[in-house]
Amino acid sequence: MNNQDKIRQLIDLRAEAKLGGGEKRINAQHEKGKMTARERIELLLDEGSFEEFDMFVTHRCTNFGLEKSKFLGDGVVTGYGTIDGRLVYVYAQDFTVFGGSLSETYAQKICKVMDMAMKNGAPVIGINDSGGARIQEGVTSLAGYAEIFQRNIMASGVIPQISAIFGPCAGGAVYSPALTDFIVMSKSSSYMFVTGPKVVKTVTGETVTDDQLGGAMVHGSKSGVTHFVSDDEQEGIALIRKMLSYMPQNNLEEPPLVRCDDPIDRLEDSLNELIPDNPNKPYDVKDVIHSIVDNSEFMEVHRYYAPNIVVGFARFNGISVGIVANQPAYLAGVLDINASRKAARFVRFCDAFNIPIVTLEDVPGFLPGTAQEYGGIIIHGAKLLYAYGEATVPKITVILRKAYGGAYCVMSSKHLRGDINYAWPTAEIAVMGPKGAIEVLKSKEIKKIEDPQEQAAFIAKAEEEYKDQFANPYNAARYGYIDDVIEPRNTRFRIIRALQSLATKKDTNPPKKHSNLPL
Ligand code: HXC
Repeated sequence: MNNQDKIRQLIDLRAEAKLGGGEKRINAQHEKGKMTARERIELLLDEGSFEEFDMFVTHRCTNFGLEKSKFLGDGVVTGYGTIDGRLVYVYAQDFTVFGGSLSETYAQKICKVMDMAMKNGAPVIGINDSGGARIQEGVTSLAGYAEIFQRNIMASGVIPQISAIFGPCAGGAVYSPALTDFIVMSKSSSYMFVTGPKVVKTVTGETVTDDQLGGAMVHGSKSGVTHFVSDDEQEGIALIRKMLSYMPQNNLEEPPLVRCDDPIDRLEDSLNELIPDNPNKPYDVKDVIHSIVDNSEFMEVHRYYAPNIVVGFARFNGISVGIVANQPAYLAGVLDINASRKAARFVRFCDAFNIPIVTLEDVPGFLPGTAQEYGGIIIHGAKLLYAYGEATVPKITVILRKAYGGAYCVMSSKHLRGDINYAWPTAEIAVMGPKGAIEVLKSKEIKKIEDPQEQAAFIAKAEEEYKDQFANPYNAARYGYIDDVIEPRNTRFRIIRALQSLATKKDTNPPKKHSNLPL
């Protein structure tokens, strides 16, 4: 073979690798409305930035005659490129080769990009579309999964890890995405479960479809496994690109500062009118978020899961922040098991990656009832408490209305190292709401009054007195637990000033092997 032949051979081999499992299988993939692994990477990365690794890798399996069936790249496309000019590592499982199933060599390719991402301090993005462990390989495939899991664990809190699920993701394979920071599932093509419908039918007798068991909306709203649900793969990929813009490259860097044209001292008069006079009336906390952040841009995480708490990314004067806000428009913004878990995970992500946390508080307390107690609200509520108390990033809290009971303590209070804690004049900071408080404090007197009308008048008067004394921010402000009572319309400006003042904040936790988060 002369040199020209050698170059032609390279070109031919590259073309062969790029075809994955061949045109027929690529067409089948398209017919299912799915993109190929390479098309997904093309769309994810900046144009022309992809550099591929290991396109000539093939498997080494000789079981079941597999030695006769080899495909260049072995079913996963790996490499690096840029998103908005910033380095990322990527792998995309190629369903056209053995159903995207994972072999020993395939796992080694993924491990290679994960190791490179760790060495270079850059995010890693995995696109999942696979039939799981390559059945013909047996234990070497399982070992490959475990090697990936170990790297997911080591990378956790060091580099952002993002998973897209654009096809099947079943069995133990689900645990790699579960170990990453954020999961995006597309409605059109994805499902995730530990055991599929057939096994479920055998074991529990339940009849379910793939989608009912592990579709995107199931994991987006019921289990909370996925953080984002996209209509299709294209939207899912756009979400990943956007998400990364709020994050630093690694835990030693700050998130990128973005140029901001939205005036920092923009007064939002509507906020002075937002809180209803009746404390039991809801309002939408997303109206507050949209009106105070840069250009009303808010990237909500877990939109469909535990909507009684809202979490997501936004910017103030170009500074990336994580927002955590109780949502009075859903279950009165109460903290329950799911809301506590959701917010705790988000707070910990922000803290791990140097993203300041802005908390907007209006919470009547923890949700009472046997379902919550039996489900372990004590442990799950403690997660959020722990996450806030452990976090060393700048923490700014604005109490909009209710801050009752334990929930007052939990939601980034001064006592959990909240840095700057503001309250609107409409804030009510107390051990509990007036109704509950009067029932406890005045129960004997109430029982003594026989006439129902007289009783009602007594209760109303007692509640009014309680409200006058406690349903305001000034008691807390007198103790310095609130740094200032601010005019609602000025909230954006006050948060920006607070963030600017905290830009050089340094805080630490005592040295330890690791914490013992209540799991
Ligand atoms: C080897 C596999 C495979 C696998 C699919 N293929 N899954 N080959 N190992 N795990 C092959 C098929 O034989 C077929 O090859 C091609 O990929 C496409 O598969 P189809 O079945 O034709 O596609 P589709 O109808 O879309 O169904 C996709 C599927 C199904 C739902 C993923 O293939 C399936 O159920 N696969 C097995 C899933 C599974 O049980 N995996 C093990 C889970 S346990 P040809 O040559 O015919 O085109 C696990 C343990 C991990 O993963 C543990 C980690 C700790």
